[in-house]
Parts: sequence; C-alpha cells; structure tokens
Amino acid sequence: MTPHLSCARCGTQYPVLEQRYRCDCSGTLDVVHDPTDFTLTTAELDARRNSSNPLDRSGVWRFRELILPLSEDEMNQAVVTRGEGNTHLYEASAVGRAVGVPRLWLKHEGENPTGSFKDRGMTAGISMARHLGLTQVACASTGNTSASMASYAARAGINAVVFIPEGKIAYGKLSQALAYGAKTIQIQGDFDDAMALVQTICADEGIYLLNSVNPFRIEGQKAIGFEIVQDLGWRVPDWIILPGGNLGNNTAIAKGLIELHERGLIDRLPRMAVVQAAGANPLYTAWTTGQPIASVVADTIATAIKIGAPVSWRKSLRGIEALDGVVTEVTDQQIMDAKALVDSAGIGAEPASCATVAGARRLVAEGVIPHDAHVVGVLTGHLMKDPDATVNYHTGKLDGIASNLANAPSVAPADLATVRSLLKV
Ligand code: F0G
Repeated sequence: MTPHLSCARCGTQYPVLEQRYRCDCSGTLDVVHDPTDFTLTTAELDARRNSSNPLDRSGVWRFRELILPLSEDEMNQAVVTRGEGNTHLYEASAVGRAVGVPRLWLKHEGENPTGSFKDRGMTAGISMARHLGLTQVACASTGNTSASMASYAARAGINAVVFIPEGKIAYGKLSQALAYGAKTIQIQGDFDDAMALVQTICADEGIYLLNSVNPFRIEGQKAIGFEIVQDLGWRVPDWIILPGGNLGNNTAIAKGLIELHERGLIDRLPRMAVVQAAGANPLYTAWTTGQPIASVVADTIATAIKIGAPVSWRKSLRGIEALDGVVTEVTDQQIMDAKALVDSAGIGAEPASCATVAGARRLVAEGVIPHDAHVVGVLTGHLMKDPDATVNYHTGKLDGIASNLANAPSVAPADLATVRSLLKV
C-alpha cells in the first residue's frame, strides 16, 4: 500500500504529500501508513533510547517509521528536533488515593522543550514544512501551539505567524511566542474566531497551517501513547485520561495505539477518557445527547481548552469509540482543586492539564473507572505556563472559585520573633 491521506468523513484518498488539510467534502484527513513499512520490535525501540543518533533519542522520532511517510534519508535532511518527548511518567499514588484510584500514573507532557505536549506534533509539522520547502507557517492558538510553533520555526529558519485571542492566553505562553520571534497577531475575539481566520488566511496566502487540522501534527502527537506503553515495559494501562479542547490530542493517541496494536507491539487497547471543561464542552454534549457537535461560546479558567468549535471532533469521536472510551466534563472549581493536588504532590501542571485528574475523580465516583484500575493521566502543560492562575488560587483571588486547598503566603515584618512564630503555625 502506498501511504496516502484519507478523508475521515467520506474516505476519499489524496497523495500523502499534497498540501491540503481537508477533503473536498470538508472532512479532516488522516495519514495512512503502509503497515509493511514498520518492522521494528519492542527491543529495537528500547535500544534506540540509548543510541547516540538524535532521531533515536527523541521521544517522537524514535518511532519515526510510524510518524512521517518519508525515507530515512529524507528524515535526516528534514527533521527539526529539540529532543522532545522522553517525559517522565510519575508514580502518583498520593494524588490517585485522593481521587479514588491509587494506581494512578501521570505522564508529564509539560516536560517537553517548550513546556507542553504540542512539541511532539510540532516537530513533525515543522519537519514536514521543511521537507516541502515551505518558508512560512501559521497557527491559531490558546497559547501552547503558538509557543511550540514559534520555537520550532525559529530552529528551522522558517517565518512564523501566530493568531491568538487578545488578553485570553496565559502570559507564559504569550511571552514564548514573542521571545521566539513569531509575528504575533492578537485577535479581538476568541480562539474559535482566530481558528476560522487562520484557515482562510493560510488558504489564500499559501501559508502552511500548523494547527492540528494538519494531519502531520497528529502523527507526531501519537508518540505520547507510544511512550506511555514503552515506559510501562510495553504493558497497556486500563485507562488513559486526558483533557480535550480542539480534540487533536485524543485523536492522535487513539490513532497511534490502534496502529501499534495492528502491528502487534501491544496485545490490547486501553480505554480512553476525554475530559472537557464544563464551560467549553461541545464534545461532552454531543457524546451525552448523541447529537452532532454544536459549537458553544467557551468560558473556563483553563484557557488552553477554552474552545467552543473543535476542529477534530469527527476523528476524535472515532478514536474514543475504538478505545471503548468516554467523555466527561468538570467544573473550574474541580479543575483548580485537582490542580492543587497535582501541584502539592511536587509534580505541578497548568489548569487544563488538571482536568485529567478532576475527570478521574468524577469517573471513579460514578463507577465508570473501577477503584483498582491502572490509570495513566496525561498532564499536557507545565505549571509555569500560567502562574497567575496558581498564585490567584492560593491567594484567594479567583472570581467564583473557592481556594479549598490554598497554601497562602504569609507576610511578616523583618522581625525575628514574628518570623519564628510563623514557623510554628
Ligand atoms: N492541554 C493543554 C495544556 C493545551 O494547550 C491544549 C490545547 C489541550 C490540553 C487540548 O488539546 O486541543 O488537542 O484537545 N491547546 C491548543 C493550543 C488548542 O492552541 O495550544 P487538544
């Protein structure tokens, strides 16, 4: 079989290197690999971890035969890597006990080079841009995609343009886009407005679009699932839980694990839970009502997933069904309390990431996930991406959110006796 692009909606096929993101019917596209291209064993994949080849050491390119449909030589020429992936899988039984599922592990994707899981998809997307000889890339973003794209584009010497909703992304992320030199356009609207604009601009101006509607972004992000099972000695957890916004990540993890299963590297599939913020829950609504997805005006403290019209919903639902998955929603209060738990375990993550743990708590309480299940939660972004949310929670300054687990700082005069008395409290 020749690798090709295939429409997730109607199945129409296109050449794999054709620069398109949607089918003529407007459906999103999948990269379909030739199954005979992949002959590696788990032992060979493990050996790559200790190799001196930068591609082998990257937690994405280690799996390269399943990422880009290019030859080894072409990849050696094109790949732009920052050694992404290889993120820690934390044993998190203390957090797990607090939410009712002690066998909890947390895969910290915030430990990627720019502080989020987006680096996995971006190394694939920018490398494809380089392979295609493109000189300008763009994305709309709630912050992490733009930070990642700005960095990888700078490494590749490609011009980057980012569209972000003005005043609605966390400062850590805005600072990265500016620092890495991307042209930064703050749209006076929300993410969904920015997303609609960037698709038209890219089509009209011939700019390469690097949102997760780009099928090669999805290919890179599959490596989260690959690495989870590799970290576990190629054993498959009972559940993988992750937050859902534009729905690229759950699409990718499901696609990758299905491919690994088809190639015989794992003996079963995990179940999957996608967690949305209650204020940005179009997938949850579609899932629970059985109706087609309808956009909502999104509002949540977890700005990374403040998305009302997700692009990858069709592929996302397909993957959730294949993994016998579920979709749930959690409130901002539950997200911030879960974040306080993850943070105080010494792990730490940005608010959207902690929807994972809040979702685990809810699904265990509802009996969907059994107490003794082996669960891997994905933490998608670093704690320092959004310091405002953290400090405002601990100082009781978040509107409408109780600081139930606050660790408020004390203020003291520069006086020994007072400071000593504070130590005793
Ligand atoms: N968690 C974080 C920290 C994110 O930045 C995002 C998405 C998600 C979860 C949701 O992932 O969109 O694949 O369902 N952030 C995008 C961005 C939208 O622009 O950075 P998804």
